Amino acid sequence: MTDPASPSTLAVWAGEDESLVQGATQVPVVYSAAYGYPDVDSWLDVALGRQPGHIYSRNTNPTVHAFEEKMRILEGARAATSFASGMAAISNTLFTLLSPGDRIVSVKDTYGGTNKIFTEFLPRFHVDVELCDTDDHAQIEAAIAPGCRVVYLETPTNPTLKVLDIARLAAAGHAAGAVVVADNTFATPINQNPLQLGADLVLHSATKFLGGHADALGGVVCGDPGLVGQIYHYREITGAMLDPMAAYLLIRGLKTLDLRVRQQNANALRIATWLQTHPAVAAVFYPGLATHAHHDVARRQMRGFGGVLSFMLRDGFAAVKAALPRLRYAHRAANLGAVETVVGTPATTSHVECSAAERAAMGIPESLIRYSAGIEDADDLIADLTQALAP
Ligand SMILES: Cc1ncc(COP(=O)(O)O)c(C=O)c1O
Repeated sequence: MTDPASPSTLAVWAGEDESLVQGATQVPVVYSAAYGYPDVDSWLDVALGRQPGHIYSRNTNPTVHAFEEKMRILEGARAATSFASGMAAISNTLFTLLSPGDRIVSVKDTYGGTNKIFTEFLPRFHVDVELCDTDDHAQIEAAIAPGCRVVYLETPTNPTLKVLDIARLAAAGHAAGAVVVADNTFATPINQNPLQLGADLVLHSATKFLGGHADALGGVVCGDPGLVGQIYHYREITGAMLDPMAAYLLIRGLKTLDLRVRQQNANALRIATWLQTHPAVAAVFYPGLATHAHHDVARRQMRGFGGVLSFMLRDGFAAVKAALPRLRYAHRAANLGAVETVVGTPATTSHVECSAAERAAMGIPESLIRYSAGIEDADDLIADLTQALAP
């Protein structure tokens, strides 16, 4: 099942064999709501899964299928299904796996939208949510006692770049009979493969590094075919499918995933190292730094440390508000993982859904800047930061 080619080759070629039409070298965008059949028997064969094919684009679509196949192969998974956004992937997965009376264990530092599902929506369906301290693996293991149905991990976390030990927490989850889910948005399959580390399901906001050009929203879940099949069924009925045009843009973006992520890894590491010595900077969070609290775990489970870092300014939120408009080579936007550098504050990006008090409770300081390094030249980005942070 696992293709032996390297990720750079797979990102270009994987998943495209079946969908080529009349020799087109690129996957076509198939905008057809339904697929017609000449007779009832051949229609029935496809509808009952006896023959390959498509019936209705809420269920499956050729362009969307090619994206799912590329991601399935890149994550080394046996099955994949896709969604209209990362949040659709997360919510569909959780609502498929959880029923009233179940318990889910996760951490306080997940993405703000995910945190809202935990704190606002799941409790309405009488799901017991336990959010542990992200820095305390012993506490997380203790919470994953028998009776836990889902262990939900996100690593590195958004926006504080904490790292969870996937192999250790997957083992705890499996000992309790739980399904282990990992959000791999920040790492990408180039830097980390949670399934190889023991997770049952890996999911992504494809909007970020996978697409890489900030022009399409999408989400994907890869992993065990039984679980992915259940999630697919929930999605085909509730309807949060990926649009074919978005799938096309994501496929095009994925072809350069390996090139982009390697450049972003290198840029982020150089910038994080440089920021550590800057007098205006109080702290830098990047798993690639030897000073990072979880650097050892990151080195064990990641091949690169990702394109996102965050840092705190000594002079607080006022200094953040002064510095950000001065940046020439950065979009001030609620996004990350694009070819362009993107900056933001948690209050305006990842945790905009949370109140200031909730952010404080999560340990997210107002003076934090999230910096998603693009593919620009690192010297230019450092020169830009130098002038933006000057007194
Ligand atoms: C780690 C992580 N997971 C999920 C999401 C949600 O993705 P989307 O915006 O595509 O719904 C985000 C968005 O920023 C994210 O950073």
